[in-house]
Amino acid sequence: MKILVTGGAGFIGSNFIRLVLSKHPDHEVVNLDKLTYAGNLDNLRDIEANPRYSFVHADICDADAVAAAMDGIDAIVNFAAESHVDRSIGGPADFIQTDVFGTYVLLEAARSHNVGRYVQISTDEVYGSIREGSFSEVDRLQPSSPYSASKAGGDMQVMAYHTTFGVPAIITRSSNNFGPYQYPEKIIPLFITNALENKKLPLYGDGANVRDWIYVTDNCEAIDLVLHQGKIGEIYNIGGGNERDNLSITKLILGALDKDEEKIQRVPDRPGHDFRYSIDCSKVKELGWAPARSFEDSLRETVDWYVDNCWWWEKIKSGKFARYYQKQYEKRNSS
Ligand code: NAD
Ligand code: DAU
Repeated sequence: MKILVTGGAGFIGSNFIRLVLSKHPDHEVVNLDKLTYAGNLDNLRDIEANPRYSFVHADICDADAVAAAMDGIDAIVNFAAESHVDRSIGGPADFIQTDVFGTYVLLEAARSHNVGRYVQISTDEVYGSIREGSFSEVDRLQPSSPYSASKAGGDMQVMAYHTTFGVPAIITRSSNNFGPYQYPEKIIPLFITNALENKKLPLYGDGANVRDWIYVTDNCEAIDLVLHQGKIGEIYNIGGGNERDNLSITKLILGALDKDEEKIQRVPDRPGHDFRYSIDCSKVKELGWAPARSFEDSLRETVDWYVDNCWWWEKIKSGKFARYYQKQYEKRNSS
């Protein structure tokens, strides 16, 4: 199988490419990525020389560039997105462009090239917040942020292209991923690296918001299973079953690094902050998937990875990120 992976230079996409190349010796991967601030070819250093891997520097919104990459492609797996909620609050335009329009461009390519499979990587955030119980795949979408609304818009395009044009599409909606190569703007890598730099850990509101954490390779295994064995036209929730509040996560990180809880700094809450995400994953489990990793062990391993791989995150944090982050931080603390 020859797979076009879009957004493969990001966090989950790069972990997915690594998994596919090692698990399927007969598969080829073409990675098409725009290399936004979040795209980083350092994430793929160990596989860039693999003869079954190639890279195309392009935007999924560019129909000609996408068409040029489609030669011999059997399946598309779309990870490409603007993915950070706080950035979507600061400026939604790129989110609507990539997450909605870009998805449409890929669906058109899937349609005109008759691909065998199109997998859209979506998120549990499209369902919105839930105080009790868990969302299943048939629940209605109630996104709260410009990010989740854009992802929901992409999902709607995917379902419409399946229904109207017969595009053989599947959607996965996963919970919060963590692990190696996650851009240090998301809570776990941001807090680990801030602690390593002896900086404060900016906890939003009272720290009681709950997320369901999944180790990134568990999600990638589920996506791989859905790609090969999922039913066309279906949606699959993928969650780790590890619901934790943000304060507990923060304390676990500080504990693993032997750092003082004084490092926690309460900052004003995120506007529209979803309180809790929770998804029912029985459907993907019926396909034969279950998370293989324990949360506490994987979190410790993740902390160790950032400790051992300063080369990877220090250059990110000392560049453009530092300026963006400082501005956000000042804005939050002055409001
Ligand atoms: P990421 O921000 O780390 O990576 C996104 C990648 O997409 C980057 O390599 C970037 O360069 C690329 N990209 C962005 N716009 C592009 C465009 N117009 N054309 C081509 N490439 C473009 O994101 P991630 O955390 O790896 O998330 C991957 C996907 O999974 C996203 O669709 C996201 O919505 C979804 N998701 C993420 C999580 C999570 O916890 N990280 C959870 C559920 C779903
Ligand atoms: O649920 C899946 C989603 O998880 C994905 O679709 C998104 O792409 C991904 O970014 C993630 O969204 P979240 O908003 O849940 O992740 P984030 O790491 O930004 O925040 C996790 C929680 O931590 C959230 O309740 C806000 C809080 N937080 C976050 C940051 C960055 C803080 O308290 N302080 C922070 O500095």
